[in-house]
Amino acid sequence: MDSYHITGGNTLEGEYRLKGAKNAVLPILAATIISGRTSRIKNCPQLSDIRTMVSILQEMGCKVSWDGSEIVVDSSPVNSFCIPQNLMKKIRSSVFLMGATLARCGQVILSDPGGCAIGKRPIDIHLTALRLLGVDIKKKDGLLECSATRLKGAVIPLSFPSVGATENVMMAAVMAEGETRILNPAKEPEIIDLQNYLVSCGAHITGAGSDEIRIVGKLPLHETEYKPIPDRIEGGTVLSAVAATRGKVLLREAVPDHMDSVLRYLTESGCIVQRDERSVYLEAPDVLQSVSPIETKPYPGFPTDMQSQFMALMCLARGTTRITESIFENRFKHVAELNKMGANITVEGRTAIIKGVDRLHGQRVAAADLRGGAALVIAGLAAEGETIVENIHHIDRGYERLEDCLKGLGAQIERI
Ligand code: EPZ
Repeated sequence: MDSYHITGGNTLEGEYRLKGAKNAVLPILAATIISGRTSRIKNCPQLSDIRTMVSILQEMGCKVSWDGSEIVVDSSPVNSFCIPQNLMKKIRSSVFLMGATLARCGQVILSDPGGCAIGKRPIDIHLTALRLLGVDIKKKDGLLECSATRLKGAVIPLSFPSVGATENVMMAAVMAEGETRILNPAKEPEIIDLQNYLVSCGAHITGAGSDEIRIVGKLPLHETEYKPIPDRIEGGTVLSAVAATRGKVLLREAVPDHMDSVLRYLTESGCIVQRDERSVYLEAPDVLQSVSPIETKPYPGFPTDMQSQFMALMCLARGTTRITESIFENRFKHVAELNKMGANITVEGRTAIIKGVDRLHGQRVAAADLRGGAALVIAGLAAEGETIVENIHHIDRGYERLEDCLKGLGAQIERI
């Protein structure tokens, strides 16, 4: 198991180019099954989650190859509607394959994805929605057996704007008879990206990003090339690392509008933040200020995927910041590790209270999940002395060789 060895204290400065968004590429790769044609997906980051999704597609019969940072999927030879259990357990986002496989094969068998470190993460909203499309779902020996003699369009009100459930319904509805309307859908940029990918294949989908998504089903689909959006969470993570080390950075290939809420809080903490069409410039103050209470919310609210990274930043701010995690019920595993480094964080229910301290000190800490691991790296970069972050396979799921990216900005960090 790899670890990071970080020597804190360097100021991060320079330029950073964002890669394609993990949470856009994953559902789009799942969706390539639907057309039965070839899709070329550009600007894909080399992440373990993406490699796992590629393996699942290959196990289901797709021909998949990497061409630099592009992934070429020919889904014409799909010959299975069973999602491999061993791979399913590795990534939660294999749940997206339900909708895509139902659209392509009319049936799918998968193992219950199960929870993970950040929470139970049930799929009840997915299943309720798919049943409304005419899918029959049976649970047997830990497997979900789903089949639909014919998918038919329906009005589908989601009880919560679940990102995965919205994506699953969009993909299944592409091959349902008639029109499907999704009410209370997730509005994340990655949802709009999935719509745009499917439209590039010939689907008729409108409304992603709004309160209602409409899908007209059973249109013929063709081959396509598509470039997913840049990764707003990678962007927020890098900005937080630079701010924590009192540095400055020009973030290129960004979509600032996707990062609005994070940029607002970085500005409130005293950073200079300038944005234009495709870039964000951030310059940190000598002393960061605590910010007004943060609550993680569905987009466009403050993203839960930035909660731990921003918490690491606030450890060194003057004053007290309250962060409430409203999306997942167990996403504070990084708190104890940050406190080992000298932070002063207490947790009351779903709210963390971060009292700023003057300094953090290097420590041996362990990542428990993807974004919590990134938070420990940020703290290590800002701390005095040496930090070892263990279990960085969690971090590799969502960041492509984070150590090389941060070294490019002047960090002292090695993978050991
Ligand atoms: C997606 O997960 C992202 N993953 C997550 O990013 C992100 O944190 C999350 O959306 C919220 O933005 C990918 O896109 C691959 P949800 P997803 O369904 O779809 C509950 C990262 O770090 N819920 O919107 O699983 C669920 O338990 C990852 O990149 C139900 O109760 O998120 C959670 O509390 C982590 N029943 C909340 O809703 C359901 O059927 C949000 O889940 C579905 C969800």
